[in-house]
Amino acid sequence: MATNSMNLEDVPSESLMSELLRRMKCASKPDKRLILIGPPGSGKGTQSPIIKDEYCLCHLATGDMLRAAVAAKTPLGIKAKEAMDKGELVSDELVVGIIDEAMKKPSCKKGFILDGFPRTVGQAQKLDDMLEKQGVKIDKVLDFAIDDAVLEERITGRWIHPASGRTYHTKFAPPKVPGLDDVTGEPLVQRKDDTAAVLKSRLDAFHKQTQPVIDYYSEKGIVAKLHAEKPQKEVTDEVKKVLS
Ligand code: AP5
Repeated sequence: MATNSMNLEDVPSESLMSELLRRMKCASKPDKRLILIGPPGSGKGTQSPIIKDEYCLCHLATGDMLRAAVAAKTPLGIKAKEAMDKGELVSDELVVGIIDEAMKKPSCKKGFILDGFPRTVGQAQKLDDMLEKQGVKIDKVLDFAIDDAVLEERITGRWIHPASGRTYHTKFAPPKVPGLDDVTGEPLVQRKDDTAAVLKSRLDAFHKQTQPVIDYYSEKGIVAKLHAEKPQKEVTDEVKKVLS
């Protein structure tokens, strides 16, 4: 009979020890529930892994989850693909379902970073309902504020290592060897929607449908505005200051 339990005897001691140390360090960290909101290329995906490690949170990026579903050609992926290719938003119903499921993961025990969700006021209201049932709420919304004019260069220069999600930029964060992932040496790829033409629709969707989400949370007094046009390291310092 298949079992969900893992045979720990087969896990190398070094891995067990480092996981144990990580869990001990995490035990003293306060719970945090964060939303990262900003236009395409504003740096949400770049800052998320740093915040995740610092505060022991899970990183839930709806864009990554949807791209994985598209690649695996699941029923969800087949429904999402057309909207994503055009730079439009996928329906609220689809994304709320995947977030609801993902938040139940054990790695979200200390809280989560929502990256790219909620993107409409409808999604924000549904998220509030979900959290209310669990007796918790969003602590902070980080607003990656940036001028649209900066974003084309960031988006068209981005390269990704699909297996790990590591992100590079030809000018701002180049890999050691052009076109190859620093850790595995595997080839980097560009996202299908990372073109100047599709960026226009993505920005349009952001201003029309997502900007009101910032107003929605501003009324609750939990939005922290970041200067996302600054260099990566300076944005990280701002994030740490806001969250400390
Ligand atoms: P998604 O994957 O969420 O894309 P996005 O919001 O458009 O955001 P990006 O991933 O493009 O930008 P980012 O802010 O993470 O930038 P990054 O840190 O990589 O969504 C894709 C699609 O999925 C949507 O269009 C929609 O169709 C669908 N979707 C997803 N969520 C949905 C939802 N909730 N509802 C409905 N539909 C949904 O940085 C970009 C580049 O800049 C990198 O190369 C990086 O190295 C560089 N960089 C980062 N920071 C700096 C800095 N400070 N200085 C210089 N360079 C920097």
